[in-house]
Amino acid sequence: MSDDLLFINARQVVTCVGPARARRGAEMGDAAVREGIAVHVQADTIVGVGSESTLRAAHPRATLVDCERGVLTPGFVDSHTHAVFGRARYEEQELRASGVSYLDIARRGGGIHASVRDLRARGQDELFALAAPRLAALAASGVTTVEVKSGYGLSLDDELKTLRVIRQLASTLPMRIVPTFLGAHEIPLEFRDRTSGRREYIDRLVQEMLPAVSADRLARFADVFCEPGVFTVDESREILTAARAAGLGIKLHADELSSGGGAELAGELRATSADHLAAISEAGIAALADAGTVATLLPATLLFLGKRDQAPARRLIDAGVPVALATDFNPGTSPTTNFPLVLTLGVSQLKLGVAEVLVAATVNGAGALGIADRIGQLAPGFSADLALWAIEDVRELPYWLGAGRCRASWMRGKPCHTHDLAVAFPR
Ligand code: NIG
Ligand code: FE
Repeated sequence: MSDDLLFINARQVVTCVGPARARRGAEMGDAAVREGIAVHVQADTIVGVGSESTLRAAHPRATLVDCERGVLTPGFVDSHTHAVFGRARYEEQELRASGVSYLDIARRGGGIHASVRDLRARGQDELFALAAPRLAALAASGVTTVEVKSGYGLSLDDELKTLRVIRQLASTLPMRIVPTFLGAHEIPLEFRDRTSGRREYIDRLVQEMLPAVSADRLARFADVFCEPGVFTVDESREILTAARAAGLGIKLHADELSSGGGAELAGELRATSADHLAAISEAGIAALADAGTVATLLPATLLFLGKRDQAPARRLIDAGVPVALATDFNPGTSPTTNFPLVLTLGVSQLKLGVAEVLVAATVNGAGALGIADRIGQLAPGFSADLALWAIEDVRELPYWLGAGRCRASWMRGKPCHTHDLAVAFPR
């Protein structure tokens, strides 16, 4: 069997071909869907995209992957998850429905704090065993690259333990995993019994945790939950400035529940991404546009929390902000590993077009992780990350509400997920 794969007989190929960076404005309206073309992969890289008959004639010894008239897309990039956690938090859903807010639950010691207590009591192997099938479920929904945050440890040892689980997942699973340090997810409860506690925890983040994370190269990004009632703008600036000095890229959970200057800070720091943004201000939108920061929108979170208002996706795009879509998979606010569901919400809730949600899920997701130069397109020179869908038209991707139609996927030219062994391991 040759090292070359030739993906043939696709009804449509969503190439997303174009500039190797996050797309803005009208650029997001073109996912470059082609018909009658094949994709030629050599080892881990796409080397040709073009006329099927020409490619077949030029590479007679390539192994053929018959797409059986399905749709081929770039593997999806889920650029925001909290996939390493212990138990589920179903008890909070009814509480919220009865009127207790997300932040009130946290003030009572639940929410993130509940997941922190739980994660601290578990060992690395146990956390790995819990996270691996969750990520496999994401892969089954077409995701080949996933960002995973720490943030339920909130102590040096427990954050390092979480990041080591993420590293173990990265070296074991057939997906590309990008690790993010989210030690600034909350002020842990043991620092809340004294007025100096906040300051002490932030000092610990900056002086102990960030240097340890960076020394072991355990994370590529640092993230902060910058939100009134969690970390202030000034605290977030201090933590993220230290993170950058430690060699990490910068992300923020910003303006998720109320507008507090998070997006403005993201722009000021020229963060790689600012995420959530349901309550972003006009000044925040302008700041992101000016900085070229990717706005990562997480519509499943707001849906699950029962919020009426989604992030202003159209205004962000019109202002020239590159928009990405992600699951925010976590036990508190978005217990889903269904990536196509996020595309559905992108159209029905955020009012985006199909091409826009496809670009948001591929090129712009890669932009939110600083890897759009080689991920997110079916184009020569890009990583051979592909997903094959049992649908006849690309518009079915956001259409089948909650359904998984991914037949198979490949990451760096190797099978990542398959419902169909004949496709993933062709003869
Ligand atoms: O992105 N907002 C902060 N972090 C997560 C929720 C974490 C949790 O509730 O466990 C989010 O929504
Ligand atoms: Fe999140």
